[in-house]
Amino acid sequence: MAVAQIGIIGGSGLYKMEELKDIEEVQIQTPFGSPSDALIVGTLAGTKVAFLARHGRNHTLLPSELPFRANIYAMKKLGVKYLISASAVGSLQAEAKPLDMVIPDQFIDRTKNRESTFFGEGIVAHIAFGEPICPNLARVLTDAIASLNLPDVTLHRGGTYVCMEGPAFSTKAESHLYRSWGATIIGMTNLPEAKLAREAEIAYATLALVTDYDCWHPDHDSVTVDMVIGNLQKNAINAQKVIQETVRRLSENPPTSDAHSALKYAILTNLNHAP
Ligand code: ADE
Repeated sequence: MAVAQIGIIGGSGLYKMEELKDIEEVQIQTPFGSPSDALIVGTLAGTKVAFLARHGRNHTLLPSELPFRANIYAMKKLGVKYLISASAVGSLQAEAKPLDMVIPDQFIDRTKNRESTFFGEGIVAHIAFGEPICPNLARVLTDAIASLNLPDVTLHRGGTYVCMEGPAFSTKAESHLYRSWGATIIGMTNLPEAKLAREAEIAYATLALVTDYDCWHPDHDSVTVDMVIGNLQKNAINAQKVIQETVRRLSENPPTSDAHSALKYAILTNLNHAP
């Protein structure tokens, strides 16, 4: 079985990593079914990584249909300790413009129908989730972006990602509500991933690529799929440069992460006394 310490999940518009060398397609079965697609294991910046197209390489899965548990389980099975999630998002704040990058540090859950725990069925555990993004991994990502000096891309450090159910985009009333909560960006996928990654003791950080102003901005058209894909394709080259530089830095200097021991005090079930 291939082994990679760094995992990458590519969202809408980022279905493969052009610079990935010596690739091997790995089909992984998990107790939670099949992942969104084969995992692509290869070498990036001299380091083994595992790449997964979140919605499948042909984009066949809705956010609500994603096999989140299988995806994270498959990454864990390959040995992943750091997971970078590249994701298209709408902006809820004027200063985060389309084509900008945001490294959020918080989430608000507006999903309704997602499998977001490995626990249950007799095993009770509650992971700490006050800091849902690994700050040390997020720092490596932000340093990598800053070092690249990408023209026309502003980096926003920190901010709150609203994770909505979809697939329809928000109403204007919802978009204004999220703005009144002080949220920065909105997407449909990252919160279940972050929870499951934490339960799997994998450090997780989001590279959010702004594609639109959702529907609240009086001077911009409301979000459409064309807008999301068009802007993400423009940004996909930059996103891949950022991921490559992040991988280089992670392999040179892998940071510590509290996520790596997230289960130390999380499990309530007394396994020693189980019948
Ligand atoms: N992904 C990209 N733009 C989005 C938006 N405005 N709302 C939810 N998810 C998105």
